[in-house]
Amino acid sequence: MMKGSPNFWRSALLASAALAAAPVMVGAVNAAPAKSKAAPAAAPLTEAQVDARVDALMAQMTTEEKVGQLIQYFNFGGTGEQAAPLEKEVAAGRAGSLLFMTDPVQINRMQRIAVEQSRLKIPLLFGFDVIHGLRTVMPVPIAVAASWDPKVAEAGQTVAAAEARAVGIHWAFAPMVDIARDQRWGRMVEGAGEDPFLGSAMAAAQVRGFQGAYLGAPGRIIAGPKHFAGYGASLGGRDYDEVNISDNELWNVYLPPFQAAIEAGAGNIMSAYMGLNGTPASGNRWLLTDVLRGRWGFKGFVVTDAGAARDLSTHGYAADDADAATRALNAGVDMEMGISPGKTAFQHLPEQIAAGKVKMADIDTAVRRVLAAKIRMGLFENPYVDVASATKVLADPAHRDVSRRAAEASFVLLHNAGNLLPLNRTGVKSIAVIGPMADSARDTIGPWVFDVKSAETVTVLAGIKAKLGAGANVAYAPGVSTPKRVNGSFFDEMGLNKQTYVEVDDNAAIAEAVAKAKASDVAVLVLGEPQNMIGEYASRSSLDLPGRQQELLNAVIATGKPVVVLLMSARPLDLKGAKPGALMNIWYPGTQGGTAVANVLFGDAAPAGRLPFSWARSVGQLPMIYSHLTGHQPSTADKHYGDAPSTPLYPFGYGLSYSTFSYANLSVAKGKIAPGESVEVSVDVKNTGTRPADEVAQLYIHQRHGSSARPVRELKGFSRITLAPGEVRKVTFRLSPKELTYWSAAKGAYVQDETVFDLYAGGDSTAPLATTLSVAKN
Ligand code: NOJ
Repeated sequence: MMKGSPNFWRSALLASAALAAAPVMVGAVNAAPAKSKAAPAAAPLTEAQVDARVDALMAQMTTEEKVGQLIQYFNFGGTGEQAAPLEKEVAAGRAGSLLFMTDPVQINRMQRIAVEQSRLKIPLLFGFDVIHGLRTVMPVPIAVAASWDPKVAEAGQTVAAAEARAVGIHWAFAPMVDIARDQRWGRMVEGAGEDPFLGSAMAAAQVRGFQGAYLGAPGRIIAGPKHFAGYGASLGGRDYDEVNISDNELWNVYLPPFQAAIEAGAGNIMSAYMGLNGTPASGNRWLLTDVLRGRWGFKGFVVTDAGAARDLSTHGYAADDADAATRALNAGVDMEMGISPGKTAFQHLPEQIAAGKVKMADIDTAVRRVLAAKIRMGLFENPYVDVASATKVLADPAHRDVSRRAAEASFVLLHNAGNLLPLNRTGVKSIAVIGPMADSARDTIGPWVFDVKSAETVTVLAGIKAKLGAGANVAYAPGVSTPKRVNGSFFDEMGLNKQTYVEVDDNAAIAEAVAKAKASDVAVLVLGEPQNMIGEYASRSSLDLPGRQQELLNAVIATGKPVVVLLMSARPLDLKGAKPGALMNIWYPGTQGGTAVANVLFGDAAPAGRLPFSWARSVGQLPMIYSHLTGHQPSTADKHYGDAPSTPLYPFGYGLSYSTFSYANLSVAKGKIAPGESVEVSVDVKNTGTRPADEVAQLYIHQRHGSSARPVRELKGFSRITLAPGEVRKVTFRLSPKELTYWSAAKGAYVQDETVFDLYAGGDSTAPLATTLSVAKN
């Protein structure tokens, strides 16, 4: 089956759903801890069933026990003296949830304390950053977004959910749905890039993958979209800095992916660290209550980011921890992600209730939401996991297959002079694989992986060697040392990241790499940023290749040999005009990354990833977006700097293929519709090359006039399709009122104007093929 074909992903989803139907059971109506196992729930519990069980529990709870349910603690699985204070809290019913545990034996142990020692035997909810897989590591989320295929995202998170659930994790702090438009911000690796339409599709797909058909479905976990809201717009791309977002951008750009995740049924939301327009997000009642619950009808529970409740006083907003607890709870936070016992804000809630600052009714509302999640997840019937079956689920080879195919679907071919790629497997007798990350398992799987199983990760070097077999001459040279951060990473300091470093004499290593390139038919350079240079607390002030990689690149290009550069990166990098024969972004491709890279390099799979962000020419252009407003002088839009073009190097939606495609016959079913009506738009896409390949057909709109000025282009439809050579497919998009409506800051409301739209269809955001659509009452 063709990679990326709809059929593969459909069967992958079905297969992983079957795998995921593990031993978890839900369905009893009584909140009391049951001894006998209930049958797996074929359907979600009704609200009345959940309410009845919550009522029964609430009637027995003391204030201290209620507040306990609202506190989550870090636990890295320690035992002995170190764990004693936490165990005491759990036994006393003063902890509702733990995060960071991944070992099923330790999870069962802590759960046993909750279930056997606490007075009401309320099980713990275990949460974790299941960002792109647990044991089977998928490509990083920005890579999955680059597949422009929501089925890839759904399948990956279905596998992640199955593995997480098998070890006893009930809840993922994912998907990260923050729009990122300043690529200096390291956390753009966790999201879907710059665009709200693509971001919303990826957000909803991931929620479906994590949660399945309903909250509590067997083998699935709760999805917790984050970080509500606006975190991606931090000033200067500096992590944790303040965020100031206009009304226009908030409603049209930053909020839609959250709304899509909630519409897809997400059971949790994480409130963000930073201040949004002057009010810290985790104490922002407008966000957490008026918008989230009032406008969107969110029914799940809200957790703060780690320590973000106490941070309300760090921000200079709350007076102290007690005031911070009050402000967070009254704003709409249900659970505090605390760090350790004795150091939370919410521990002050009982005194704040006594002082009349917090209403008992508001505490009860928050507790009910947390208990409802535990009941829906079936924790009262099945608090423990079966360690033997967890081992089996984690080792499932089908999961690796999903990861490999996702990686193949995500690579973006940016440049391919003279069709250097794919390489000819029989023609290439010798190949030099160069770069400090080319054989680094740690970098291949990317950030946000703490349970590192390096031995089972396929590096680029290993993948190429396996593909070419014993007959080929594959030489490896690190070329330069692994670049290091100037300011350290706290993940490294905590021992979580396990970053590996190649340490060499750079001058000698560059000379060795040049010699090996000269002696080979082709050089494959793996360059970019080691994984600890991207992610949380990993912003950069530069888009240059870090360390001495640029020198290495220039020296290898100067050999005159064919050079393929594979970029391991999640942000655009500035190669300073260097032109290797071929350039492909492989992101951080996950457990099976090397196999996927080899398959694409040698043409067993064709690249069809498309950029989920505009690829800036240099750091000085940031932030750079394709969907900017027309401005006052559109004819010079490419010259708005005096010293450089103001266009991106590669536009949003861009990516090459091993084949070529043409677009024709863009048409709307009706040239004029009334407001509120929908219309179909279709375009014929033809594979004009000689290879079967995927293409991502994209539809953009531009509103010519209206209540507010609108962007030059906005993505409003896309479809990844597989076409045989010569095949023509009619791709049909639907423009409904939802796509034609926007938030007008001038009106302070969503509007659909009577206006004219330009519609564009093609293979990226500069597609020339155009038609128009009028919207008018009669
Ligand atoms: C802080 C991060 O901002 C958040 O994304 C993560 O889920 C928590 N830490 C827990 O690791």
